[in-house]
Amino acid sequence: MNQVRSTDILPPHRFHCADLVTIPYATCTFHSLPPVAHLSRTPQHPARPFPAERSGSLRVPVAPATDDPSPVVAGPLPPHPPLREYYSDEAGRTRRVRQWFDAAAGDYDWINAVMSFGSGRRYRREALRRAGVGPGQRVLDVGSGTGMIAALAQPLVGNGGLVVALDPSQGMLARARDRGVRRTVPGWAERLPFADASFDRLTMGYALRHVADLAATFREFRRVLRAGGGLLLLEITRPRNALGHAALRFYLRSLVPLATRTCGRGRAPAQLMRYYWDTIEHCVSPETILAALRQAGFQAVQRRTVFGVFSEYTAQNPTC
Ligand SMILES: C[S@@+](CC[C@H](N)C(=O)[O-])C[C@H]1O[C@@H](n2cnc3c(N)ncnc32)[C@H](O)[C@@H]1O
Repeated sequence: MNQVRSTDILPPHRFHCADLVTIPYATCTFHSLPPVAHLSRTPQHPARPFPAERSGSLRVPVAPATDDPSPVVAGPLPPHPPLREYYSDEAGRTRRVRQWFDAAAGDYDWINAVMSFGSGRRYRREALRRAGVGPGQRVLDVGSGTGMIAALAQPLVGNGGLVVALDPSQGMLARARDRGVRRTVPGWAERLPFADASFDRLTMGYALRHVADLAATFREFRRVLRAGGGLLLLEITRPRNALGHAALRFYLRSLVPLATRTCGRGRAPAQLMRYYWDTIEHCVSPETILAALRQAGFQAVQRRTVFGVFSEYTAQNPTC
């Protein structure tokens, strides 16, 4: 495959924002990703430095990564109330979450396999198919973690498509690259470093509970999706019946952390799993998530469930 430089994707004279780290996000001019067909052509512009994450032979235009995930326009709908047992303020929350995911990156896949009874890959692949991910599309996987969804999406979009995995944790992104995800970008869901209408599909698996503000996040999702583009959110939902709730709580908050400690994996994965359950337990209801998606302007907003626990939210950006 021909090497394509960032300057083939964005004309050099329009590159100012990505190069100037000091420009506030809100004043940045972002640039569209190229038509997919252009990604494999031979470069014709001279190379220039660009703060994109190198991954594979292509480079993806991104704005500078930032440590501040707070939304550009405030519209506060936190996915759960502050969990003071783990942090004292919002800055502490984002710091801890990133530290945990960094530290647990090497264990995430097997913990996830235990948590989903080994069905995680198949379920994600089927969900991608149901959401219409297919040949030639540009897909952004937000909160990609070790890149399971991104890696599954790559063969679905084929060589004519593009899959970008975005996550604030460098440890997670390193794992995603190890498993063959070709494009990884550090970043936060609340402030996506992409131009408007850059993607055909946006996916997010089990990361919704970690954003600061659902309303701002959904507005961002709409912004980077093209008109008519589709959204797929996978999430774990607290079971409504008491028995299911108690069983899942015991499993995720006690058994899985015990298993991680017994395997001698250090404290971070066990702490993360306890926190993981607590965010599920205190998460806003599915109805609130559906309402927030509609409020953000999405259409055809739907939720499909498996065992009442695995929620699959789908929605469409209006066509005009
Ligand atoms: C439970 S993992 C999910 C990984 C993957 N999507 C999957 O399907 O298994 C959650 C991921 O969300 C990321 N994350 C946390 N806060 C985030 C935010 N504000 N924006 C985007 N991703 C975030 C974490 O770093 C972590 O990798």
